[in-house]
Amino acid sequence: MKEKPVVFSLSSSVSVADEVIKILNLDKNETIVRHFADGEILAKPSETVRGKHCYIIQSTCAPVTENLMEILVFCDALKRASAKEITAIIPYFGYARQDRKSKPREPISARLVADLLKTSGVDRVVTFDLHAAQIQGFFSCPVDDLTFINVLGNYFKDKLGTKDIVVVSPDHGGVVRARNLASHLDATIAIFDKRRPKPNVAEMCDIIGDVKDKTCILVDDMIDTGGTIVAASNELIKRGAKKIYVGCTHPVLSNDAIDKLENAPIEEIITSNTIKLKRESSKIKVISIAPMIAQAIDCIEEGVSIAPLYEV
Ligand code: R5P
Repeated sequence: MKEKPVVFSLSSSVSVADEVIKILNLDKNETIVRHFADGEILAKPSETVRGKHCYIIQSTCAPVTENLMEILVFCDALKRASAKEITAIIPYFGYARQDRKSKPREPISARLVADLLKTSGVDRVVTFDLHAAQIQGFFSCPVDDLTFINVLGNYFKDKLGTKDIVVVSPDHGGVVRARNLASHLDATIAIFDKRRPKPNVAEMCDIIGDVKDKTCILVDDMIDTGGTIVAASNELIKRGAKKIYVGCTHPVLSNDAIDKLENAPIEEIITSNTIKLKRESSKIKVISIAPMIAQAIDCIEEGVSIAPLYEV
């Protein structure tokens, strides 16, 4: 009889992992995680993993360093305990924005994190909507970059139909994402020319595309401080947009981002639970990615194509 996979959750993704375990009808495997007084981390499985396929679910969201270190230490424990294969399911892959040298003397930290994961013993990575798809190439193991865009497409199609919709990318880096969502809705796209005069400050300089009297859906991979989405929605209103909805995969929502979004001219924000919300908001609707993770684990276990989970 085929051995069942083992799914572990670490600190940042407990509720998603519990959902996945329930969908797949697996037993919950306890992890022991200790953060010592000096900040050192110990993470290990409580039972044997010898010869098993192990899946660890953990987003590297805030506290980023601790969550990342938990994965590294836990994978090292699995490897040394003779796990057969280790898959790191990292719904939100932190450090992804440091993916190139855009100014002199900058690090490429996304590559460094990929190397650290590999060194710790990871055989495969499953993640969602990487900031830039090319980050897959930083890994020397397989990466399945699943997408939330199809979920957003289905949601907005049911809610808004397809008439007078324009999908808006808040910057040029998100054009493919906007085009993919627009293809679900038979919609046109618009693109902002975003500038960052200093870190965490977003300025919308110009826009390509027609938004006047349209229902706009702003789409982004993540909302961090909220600066980008708030600036873009204010600008859309100035340019005559009728209503504004927002779709994003990763609700990073640092500092007072939720307050800022609540005060912005936005009808609704649809996001996922790759990161747990700091607090509920009547404006933010969360759709779980647990069913997709469960399906991905099933496909990997059965050795069948995972393509429907990332094809748009
Ligand atoms: C940038 O390239 C990303 O796709 C997001 O637009 C950005 O990280 C959002 O950050 P914030 O919410 O702080 O403007």
